Amino acid sequence: MRAVKAVLPVAGLGTRFLPATKAVPKEMLPVVDKPAIQYVVEEAARAGLEDILMITGRGKGAIENHFDRAPFLEDALERKGDGARLDAVRAATNLADVHFLRQGDPRGLGHAVLRARQHVGQEPFAVMLGDDLIDAQEHLLERMLDEQAARDATIVALMEVDPEHIHLYGIADAEPTADADVVRIHGLVEKPAREYAPSNLAVIGRYVLKPEIFDVLEKTAPGRGNEIQLTDALQVLASDEAVAGPVYGVVFRGLRYDTGDRLDYLKAVVRLACGREDLGPDFRRWLGEFTASLQ
Ligand code: G1P
Repeated sequence: MRAVKAVLPVAGLGTRFLPATKAVPKEMLPVVDKPAIQYVVEEAARAGLEDILMITGRGKGAIENHFDRAPFLEDALERKGDGARLDAVRAATNLADVHFLRQGDPRGLGHAVLRARQHVGQEPFAVMLGDDLIDAQEHLLERMLDEQAARDATIVALMEVDPEHIHLYGIADAEPTADADVVRIHGLVEKPAREYAPSNLAVIGRYVLKPEIFDVLEKTAPGRGNEIQLTDALQVLASDEAVAGPVYGVVFRGLRYDTGDRLDYLKAVVRLACGREDLGPDFRRWLGEFTASLQ
């Protein structure tokens, strides 16, 4: 069975963006003219995942409002005859069925995923992290969903990273398969020091998991940062195929935008703005002049 549900952990405090995130969830920060989280929901919907569960927390109400109807705003735009903006406002509501569940104690990504157990049931499901945006022209998630269904395996998305960024990611110990973009994973380690890393293949924020992960997460002790790490539960699966079958990585070589820290966020906004049909031509012209003026 191909997965139809996605779990999006959105309870993080967004401390790297303070003070912007004092009263606004980091997931709602605009990337050009849409909140970051909308790109992720659009990606899920494009891949056929229209049942979305957000694991949320205190202060995240703006996310719920964003995916709900906005009758007053919609009426006002309708009266003005502003069809384009009305469509833009309604688009977020019509993308998917979005459900919300509070994480409760902030005990880490693994704990957030475990909270989805009842909603997910006995099916494979995707986990998508909001700091990673995958370009709309890519098909990473579809590829992962297909591999999951075909191999009845756990699938994570991997990307080669520069050695100096290894300590920011879960890193895979992997070997090639007959498919050029698929590797078999034998181990995973959360944010290792560069000298202890088994490779430079980093887990990016897309996973297609089997429901067996929940039993493993139940038993996973707090790890790095005293948090229950999803990577640690995946390591249990990767090191013992008997638990829930094999773990594979789909190696992504396409366009990914990181919005997790301020510098990467600025780069993501510029790159996405340059690619936009409406804003791109003017923005690129200005950007060319501006960068020339910096020389
Ligand atoms: C999380 C995961 C890590 C993964 C990363 C991808 O870390 O724990 O394994 O590589 O997402 O973005 P975070 O960035 O939330 O600290």
